[in-house]
Amino acid sequence: MIRKIKNICCIGAGFVGGPTMSVIAANCPDIKVNVVDIDEERIDKWNSEDLSFLPIYEPGLKEIISSCRNRNLFFSSNIIKHLKCADMIFISVNTPTKTKGVGAGQASDLKWVEASARQISKYARSDTIVVEKSTLPVKTAQTINTILKYSKDNQLKNHKEKKFTVLSNPEFLSEGTAINDLLSPDRVLIGGEDKESINALMKIYLNWVEEDKIFTTDLWSSELSKLIANALLAQRVSSINSFSALCEKTGANIKDVSFAIGLDKRIGKYFLNVGPGFGGSCFKKDILNLIYICNHYGLQEVSNYWQKVLDINEWQKNRIINEIVNKMFGTITDKRLAIFGFSFKANTNDTRESPSKFICKKLLEEGSKLAIYDPKVSPEQIKKDLLDENHPQDKDNLEICANQKEAATGADAIIVLTEWEEFKNIDWESISNLMRSPSWLFDTRSVCNIYEAKALGINVWSLGFGK
Ligand code: NAD
Ligand code: UGA
Repeated sequence: MIRKIKNICCIGAGFVGGPTMSVIAANCPDIKVNVVDIDEERIDKWNSEDLSFLPIYEPGLKEIISSCRNRNLFFSSNIIKHLKCADMIFISVNTPTKTKGVGAGQASDLKWVEASARQISKYARSDTIVVEKSTLPVKTAQTINTILKYSKDNQLKNHKEKKFTVLSNPEFLSEGTAINDLLSPDRVLIGGEDKESINALMKIYLNWVEEDKIFTTDLWSSELSKLIANALLAQRVSSINSFSALCEKTGANIKDVSFAIGLDKRIGKYFLNVGPGFGGSCFKKDILNLIYICNHYGLQEVSNYWQKVLDINEWQKNRIINEIVNKMFGTITDKRLAIFGFSFKANTNDTRESPSKFICKKLLEEGSKLAIYDPKVSPEQIKKDLLDENHPQDKDNLEICANQKEAATGADAIIVLTEWEEFKNIDWESISNLMRSPSWLFDTRSVCNIYEAKALGINVWSLGFGK
């Protein structure tokens, strides 16, 4: 028998909850989808009439939202109300690295997941299906089950216990391509034990995903697959970044190397772009979490191996900063540096763990004056990320610019830190006229037309280019 799901509640209206539920609502007009969050400001933004004020920027999101918001998709901060009437509840809350206590710096902080489970236990109806959408340490479903089962509030009026089933359904979307990833996923993974619940979730996806792309496993394989997928992706980035340095020393060109090796089907062409290190809210935290889990199970060699992927990532960011300072005659104090790109990758306004943020902080520490331009990150976000009360002088050294030209005016260097499309077509002729001589271009994403920039007299350092 397949249970018919009529009402979904998703806890967490973030980068995953918002787009994921929008795509479900758009493809399942018969299901009412309520996305709830404790952050009222975020909910207000999801409800804003002008869709350019949505809390996250994601290509294609506005169109999806306008097709179903207030039809069968609703954003609300009334969590209790929507938990009470749901047949299926997705947990899509944040799971960052713990900052204190046991496992600090490595383990995932599950306090938001635990709080969600307690609320579900108290307010949800019996027989509700609980779906883990957040990325979680392996065996978390056991913890959620225990909370649901033994919570004091898990009582019906007749003193009977409520029953819940827990499924794991990790999300593999990438920011910047989230809508496409959700509409045409490589696979949908569902882990669980209860066939009826698995079928109910599968039936939702079958509204737009082909059956052969939906894969079911036990809970632990599903939870672990998500962490391992992210670790392998991050490892590819660290691998190619490590070779960018070797290319610079040997006179090779990393773009050609990436292309040549990617032609081998066994290696594949994706995820071989060099850059200033991987950012985003997940790769680092998920590898740290794996390291913690491996240590817990006594697998020191395995955890050491994955630690190296993180080490290379830090090294790459620091080596870029050193290159910039060394090339600019050993000092950048009082020099104006135009920063092109602040988000952790193109096509998103997310700055969590952005390499640009890390590099900008260090450049400010060195006394430079930053003129930052990003097409989608708001000035408020940039200031929030870079300014703090311990460094009051940074305020005078930070300018947020509305476009490339404003940032480049009077600049000693342009540093490209995010691969936004517009940086592939910079009008070097007019930009070079605005800069101070001798001028520099540091292209950490290998996206600029460096030959044109060089021809106009700009000194160029492009990551991974040995010539
Ligand atoms: P996010 O921080 O953007 O959103 C999480 C939201 O949950 C926040 O708005 C927060 O206020 C809300 N929240 C926390 N506790 C709550 C509670 N008790 N009740 C109601 N709301 C609550 O995080 P995200 O980027 O959407 O990531 C969510 C999860 O999905 C994480 O586990 C992450 O690892 C995973 N994930 C993220 C991505 C991505 O690209 N961002 C992709 C796949 C998986
Ligand atoms: C990543 C995964 O790709 C998703 O499958 C996963 O669902 C998600 O993490 C998650 O769990 O949060 P995301 O972090 O949004 O998605 O973005 P990616 O495209 O993976 O990029 C991550 C970082 O690696 C970015 O800083 C990006 O610039 C960098 N990167 C990526 C490179 O430097 N080179 C590449 O070739 C690819």
